[in-house]
This record gives sequence, C-alpha cells and structure tokens, in this order.
Amino acid sequence: MESNAKRRAAEGALSFLEGAEVVGIGTGSTIMEFVDLMKPDARLYVPSSMETVRALSSRGFRVAHPSSVSHMDIYVDGADEVDADLNMIKGRGGALTMEKLLAHYARSRIFIVDDSKIVSRLGERGPVPIEVLPEALGFVEEGLRNLGLHFEERTCAGKRGPLMSDTRGYILDVEVPRDADPANLDNQLRSIRGVVETGFFLGMADAVVVGYSDRVRILTRST
Ligand code: 5RP
Repeated sequence: MESNAKRRAAEGALSFLEGAEVVGIGTGSTIMEFVDLMKPDARLYVPSSMETVRALSSRGFRVAHPSSVSHMDIYVDGADEVDADLNMIKGRGGALTMEKLLAHYARSRIFIVDDSKIVSRLGERGPVPIEVLPEALGFVEEGLRNLGLHFEERTCAGKRGPLMSDTRGYILDVEVPRDADPANLDNQLRSIRGVVETGFFLGMADAVVVGYSDRVRILTRST
C-alpha cells in the first residue's frame, strides 16, 4: 500500500518539471519511483547521493556533479516527516548535507511523500539525523549530552564503527524531545562546532506532493 502511495506521489510531481532545464534529484525509495517514471531528455540532472548518481546514469540521464553547476531550476526529493507548516525532517537515508545544499540553491523545491510521512510534530516518527565532521565526533557527542539530548551513532551492516556518508561525515540520530521547538533545536544543534548539517528542513518546501493509495494531494504554503 505504501509503495502505491509513493508511486502516486511521484506521478503527482512530474508536471513540476515543466520548463525546468537543470533539476536536482534527491535520495530514497520515493525519489526512485520518480526516477522510474521519468524519461531521459535534454535536461541536466544534479544528484544528491551516489545512489541517485547510479540510478540516473544507468537509465541514460544527463548527470552533472553539484560542483559543476551554478544554478538549479528545481529540486525534487522525498522526506521522512512533514508537519502542517511543511517543515520537514530528512536524512534518514544519510544524504542530508547534499540534499540541504541542493534544496537551498534550487529556485523551487518540491518534496514527495506517502501519507505515512505526515505528522503533527516533527520527531514523532523518529530522530533527526545530524552530520558530523569525523574528527569532531567526541566533541559533538559531549555537546549533545550537555544539551540533555539523547542520540545514537548510525551504523550499517558490513562496517565497524559509525556509518560514513557520501559527504564523508558521521551521522548521529538525535531524539527530538516532545516539547522541542524545531527551529530552536536546529539552532542549538548547529551551534555545536563540528556539526556539518542537520536534517531539519524548515521553511524549505514550496510544495509537498502527498500520495495516498488512491489519490494525490498537493500541499503548498498557502493551503
Ligand atoms: C535521504 C532522505 C530521503 O528523502 C528520506 O529518507 C525519504 O526516503 P524514502 O523515500 O525512502 O522514505 O532524506 O537522506
């Protein structure tokens, strides 16, 4: 059912590409549904992760490294949680730093999610990931403890120690306290030197396309 809803969200986002020449593409299973629906064309695609580089290039899309472009017409990505103000948590796929960079520089930003991602409070479904400079891991963990925050180092099968992202940072998953204000928590996290980026995407979505098993709904800041 969830994959049907992801497919519906992906279908609902296709029309946003009209007129775009340079398109940033995010990471994750929902964005893979989107990539499956697209056809190679004259557009230039800027991927946010190695997974997406491989998915796009193996299907014959024109791919550009982020360092080789200076503007993007649109950025399309998935999300882990979306609240009523279209604020989001992203990065449970570990690509938050490049995703935030591309989303920041794109002229417009569209996010596609299935309906299970809609929450009443950010942090309801899981932690907020942060990316940390490897050399600063001990300092950052102490900084988080000083703020009274609970966290886990993200690991992955087949590798000892913390998982290293495509952008060569460690990922820590930080529990969001029930009474936390996301903007304040984001500021607190980013003020710990050695934190490269957080998975709070606040005020970044121009539209969120929500897929349900049988329909699609487009949320914009004004809806
Ligand atoms: C990766 C992300 C993904 O967009 C997010 O985790 C959603 O993934 P999925 O579509 O697989 O649920 O932020 O860093």
